[in-house]
Amino acid sequence: MAKKPFRIGMIGCGFMGRAHSNAYCKVANFFDLEYEPILQAACARNEASVKAFAENWGYASIETDWRKLLERDDIDAVDICVPNNLHKEMAIAAAEAGKIILCEKPLAMNTAEGEEMCAAVDKAGVANMVWYNYRRVPAVTLAKQLIDEGRLGRVFHYRANFLQDWTISADLPQGGAALWRLDVAAAGSGVTGDLLAHCIDTAIWLNGPITSVTAMTETFIKERKHQLTGEVQAVGIDDAAALLCRFANGSLGLFESTRYARGHKALYTLEINGENASMQWDLEDLHRLQYFDHADDSIIRGWRNVHVSDGDQPYMGNWWVPGLQIGYEHSFVHAVADFLKGLAAGVPAGPTFRDSLETQKVCDAILKSAQEGVWVDVG
Ligand SMILES: NC(=O)c1ccc[n+]([C@@H]2O[C@H](COP(=O)([O-])OP(=O)(O)OC[C@H]3O[C@@H](n4cnc5c(N)ncnc54)[C@H](O)[C@@H]3O)[C@@H](O)[C@H]2O)c1
Repeated sequence: MAKKPFRIGMIGCGFMGRAHSNAYCKVANFFDLEYEPILQAACARNEASVKAFAENWGYASIETDWRKLLERDDIDAVDICVPNNLHKEMAIAAAEAGKIILCEKPLAMNTAEGEEMCAAVDKAGVANMVWYNYRRVPAVTLAKQLIDEGRLGRVFHYRANFLQDWTISADLPQGGAALWRLDVAAAGSGVTGDLLAHCIDTAIWLNGPITSVTAMTETFIKERKHQLTGEVQAVGIDDAAALLCRFANGSLGLFESTRYARGHKALYTLEINGENASMQWDLEDLHRLQYFDHADDSIIRGWRNVHVSDGDQPYMGNWWVPGLQIGYEHSFVHAVADFLKGLAAGVPAGPTFRDSLETQKVCDAILKSAQEGVWVDVG
């Protein structure tokens, strides 16, 4: 049967522009879908670089003005892969233009912006998703399956870290290409929106809503030169954040994130302790799930190191043969596959804008708590 075209307008040609383009190219080869992604247009401000990007990935056309992209009637879906301060304006305009929207995380700069974005997609009735891709690493999806099957029993603890070390040098400028993450005007926050947001999305997905937080943040380097203007300016982002939180299910949460953990590049780890079983996962060893089951015979009881590569395990039946693992980029392929399946079935594949608003609320509560030195209820 002929597939229905899903014509994509990609905005942004950086890290995520590449990760998503790769996913669109691969998905139809590995998943049996009603829709087939078509790389219709790529958009970024610099004509030479967007042209090179389009040629490399096979986009049929280019635009240098994202508003022109939204005016085109040969685009079904817009993929927003630009710095955080542009998400709201682009998403609202895309919704008004009746486009399906896939938006990078965090949803917005803050909750107020996120609410406007949710209202816009609701009003327009357009399908939407936010790219919290770690949900779709097979070992993490397996963790969700095991929790949903009730294997952990009552959950007591959830802990997660996301540690990096790339901003330790005081000579690193802020702002502009690649370094917009250090500029509060472009990023909205530092590690909270960039890294913790991933941990929080996964935590809410696995362990339910977070109800209150108490947090501390620190900005270790107080001033940096701006890459575009050359001016030395105060740094407005949080370089590190640590928090305690309570979940609605009664469990306690502990999270830490920093870009100052020398030696760690992308150490996202999570652990869940339930009354019957515990689980651990580590992004740097992403195809493994560590699982401890107290019901095991005591003389052989211990942590199982589950190599998530079997066809029975989430997504793996679509790839190679048992024992052969997949990697980071496949989480994006899975996101596209789930989104397109949801579109065909009329059932949204999360996280939607509304789901991601919950993560945004927790991020805002973290920053508020750190600023005021108090526990903050998540709205
Ligand atoms: N899901 C994840 O794991 C993950 C990982 C990295 C980044 N992100 C998110 O993805 C988004 C983009 O991050 P990135 O790492 O790809 O950034 P990047 O700096 O690599 O790329 C940003 C792109 O946006 C383009 N751009 C900037 N302003 C534009 C405009 N006005 N019109 C059109 N294009 C414009 C730039 O030219 C560049 O191509 C951010 O929201 C970030 O938080 C998510």
